Amino acid sequence: MQFKIIPAQKLDKLQRQQIAELCFTAFDEDPWSQYAFMQTASHLVGILDEKIVSHALWTDRIFIINDNTSVKTAYVEYVTTDYRLRGKGLASQLLRYLIDALTTLGYELAALQPEDDAFYKKLGWTSWLGSLYIKQNTSTYLTDMHEILLYSLSVKLKELLSHNTVDDAICTDWREGELW
Ligand SMILES: CC(C)(COP(=O)(O)OP(=O)(O)OC[C@H]1O[C@@H](n2cnc3c(N)ncnc32)[C@H](O)[C@@H]1OP(=O)(O)O)[C@@H](O)C(=O)NCCC(=O)NCCS
Repeated sequence: MQFKIIPAQKLDKLQRQQIAELCFTAFDEDPWSQYAFMQTASHLVGILDEKIVSHALWTDRIFIINDNTSVKTAYVEYVTTDYRLRGKGLASQLLRYLIDALTTLGYELAALQPEDDAFYKKLGWTSWLGSLYIKQNTSTYLTDMHEILLYSLSVKLKELLSHNTVDDAICTDWREGELW
């Protein structure tokens, strides 16, 4: 499989169509149908025989850990493989490539909310055990239980997050749609 990283604004018509088709099949929506912030996402596509068969995207977020550490975070969503090609290791390859690419691009952390965490845990993602807060304008509030998984991309973050506990906290800015 060949990989390409393409900013949302640079996707051509065919690429948009193929990504929309994959995401509609998996999630009943395409990434651009609802939220303005998705217009600035970066897409990672896996290509076989000139067709996009596997996909993930990320958007930029700043996570504040325990009120004192600001972390450049890639928030990953819309991970999917063409249903006809699932179970062949394509999404695993894509996510390994993603981790290398994000590290090279200077991100310190990758995060996502999993549908099912077993798939990601096999690839080295780990659960965040602490609380999750959202900052909106001047107020900050605790969100309901959401599971997020993390992948530390720098040595500093690996050390910081290796022993996270229920007493730790992540806070990030509000966004439209799903907060996590
Ligand atoms: C989840 C998904 C992206 C996996 O794509 P894929 O290309 O089939 O993934 P892989 O072939 O690399 O699967 C790797 C392993 O995870 C397992 N796996 C796949 N989907 C899984 C799931 N939903 N839950 C748990 N394990 C899963 C596979 O059985 C495989 O196990 P193995 O390594 O022991 O053989 C794909 O099933 C999909 O598009 N699902 C619908 C959309 C979705 O739920 N995306 C995740 C959003 S968080």
